[in-house]
Amino acid sequence: MTWHKIIFGDCRNMSEVPNESIHLVVTSPPYYNAPFDYPYLFKSYDDYLDLIRSVAKELKRVLAPGRIACFVTQDVRIEGKLYPICSDIIRIMIESGFKYRDRIIWKKPEGYIRISRRSGVIIQHPYPMYYYPDNIYEEIIIFQKGEFDYSYLKSLDSKILEESKVDIEVFNKEKWYLSVWEITNVLPLKGRPEEGIAAFPEEIPRRLIKLFSFKGETVLDPFLGSGTTTKVAKELGRNSYGYEIDLELKNVILEKVGYWQATLTGDIIKYKIREDTKRLRTFLQERVRMQRSVTNNKENSRDS
Ligand SMILES: C[S@@+](CC[C@H](N)C(=O)[O-])C[C@H]1O[C@@H](n2cnc3c(N)ncnc32)[C@H](O)[C@@H]1O
Repeated sequence: MTWHKIIFGDCRNMSEVPNESIHLVVTSPPYYNAPFDYPYLFKSYDDYLDLIRSVAKELKRVLAPGRIACFVTQDVRIEGKLYPICSDIIRIMIESGFKYRDRIIWKKPEGYIRISRRSGVIIQHPYPMYYYPDNIYEEIIIFQKGEFDYSYLKSLDSKILEESKVDIEVFNKEKWYLSVWEITNVLPLKGRPEEGIAAFPEEIPRRLIKLFSFKGETVLDPFLGSGTTTKVAKELGRNSYGYEIDLELKNVILEKVGYWQATLTGDIIKYKIREDTKRLRTFLQERVRMQRSVTNNKENSRDS
């Protein structure tokens, strides 16, 4: 039996989470003002970095000593300018006192990318200086709060330890041992519940939770989105906290985490709506639609 607390509010303040009570953080912050998910969500890139700084400070407070925080993210290109989100998160986390432990490339299958095919330019103009690669990866950046005390394993109940064992057959077969993970992304199908949320595939929190936490421990996702981390934590016998600012995602999250079936499984899922919650989805999707029609018009006029 596990418990899960979902808080609709701004994760700059995670006062519901006691100090050093979290064993693993798995999260994917908004991709700044990414045109197809979060157009104009932040006033400036500095505002965005301020958010990351505040969250890093809270993570330092809530994470237990020696434990891990994983960010799934990617640099983002807006109106031709590439914003170095990965490097900035690494710098901010180091400045906040974390150790930069690892970087994994999450490689998506070719053909599933939804952003424009920049590489087409060189096909039309097969000369030097016309090269723009199509992006098919994101990064999983992994940080650690100090050193982990491995004698902790001796203090664990032998059943918990056994149930937390990493399946080395799967580890080898799926090549978890490499710093490049090949995982299919959530397909951008129209009408799916995660539309416009930039959800990560369940396989990412699944691997991270199995690799960096023990059964019965507590996982936190400060940018919960559609609720993927909570869903997977529950399936793997971990407890969780999730923060999401957008109250319009409430039904998507509750559906995904099995809120209405929880009594059947014996899990406890509670949610709280704070005053600092916002309503973003409808407004952001309207902006995405406007953005798309501007892009299409530009492309049509270029074609004609
Ligand atoms: C990239 S999405 C996360 C997707 C998630 N990993 C999933 O699988 O569905 C980032 C989420 O962070 C939320 N968000 C943005 N600013 C926030 C804040 N200050 N506090 C809490 N959530 C925030 C957005 O509304 C969005 O749902």
